[in-house]
Amino acid sequence: MDKRDLEQTLVLIKPDALKNSLTGYLFSTLSEFHTGLHYCGTKIVHVSKMMAEEHYAEHRGKIFFPAILDYLMGHCHYSDKPWKQRVIAIAYQGRDAIRKIRDIVGPTNPLEARLEKPGCIRSLGTMVPLKDAEGNMIGQRMDNLIHASATHNDAEREIKLWFKPNDIPPLMRAYPTEQSREFYYFKENRLYGKYEPDSVCILAPSDVVWKSDLESLRKLCKGIPASGSLKSVVAKYLINEKLAENW
Ligand code: CDP
Ligand code: MG
Repeated sequence: MDKRDLEQTLVLIKPDALKNSLTGYLFSTLSEFHTGLHYCGTKIVHVSKMMAEEHYAEHRGKIFFPAILDYLMGHCHYSDKPWKQRVIAIAYQGRDAIRKIRDIVGPTNPLEARLEKPGCIRSLGTMVPLKDAEGNMIGQRMDNLIHASATHNDAEREIKLWFKPNDIPPLMRAYPTEQSREFYYFKENRLYGKYEPDSVCILAPSDVVWKSDLESLRKLCKGIPASGSLKSVVAKYLINEKLAENW
């Protein structure tokens, strides 16, 4: 198989799309018939603060950062229905997957999307005013229905952030994996090599892991700085984990 056919990209169906019943439309617009791409992983995720912060790590410190965390966590569209606060995460695969999906999705800003690319997915989005505590307008949140990885680096980081290797069928995996020989436990932003009461076991011997994650964990366990932060590695192991809700 040509390596280019393994290219993967992450799509998130965001809470505004779920609330407006656009899920079927998005699946059909991005279907193999229309894009030539196929699913290699999918899951329904109640997005934790940790996951939202890691997903949007590049925007940390920007004025709209808190607003996009709330948006992704479903706080804006399901404030009174916490059980509906979720996104659908999908990994698509195929040649040119990243560019093809970004093209169909369209520009980030829904107003620009309507002008520049009428009919693209984000042209159906809305702009929401952001106000400070005194009610002064400080910016706008772009409710644009869908996330799609923008570059090859983003796609690799995002697929590894949201998916474990075993969430993806073995022959569809695009990134190197390794088997863990160790146990790793996590609790309140700390990594442990042995069980701690109320910790979550994130890895056990023989579990299949992204190689880059295992390299980071081995370093972090010894207190050595690693390429991936602890939260960027463990967030996927805490997906839908009730214990981890406030970590
Ligand atoms: O999603 P995309 O990669 O196109 O855009 P981004 O610049 O990485 O921003 C991430 C998300 O934050 C966007 O999709 C918007 O939902 C939101 N955003 C916002 O609300 N206001 C901004 N000025 C920029 C982004
Ligand atoms: Mg982006």
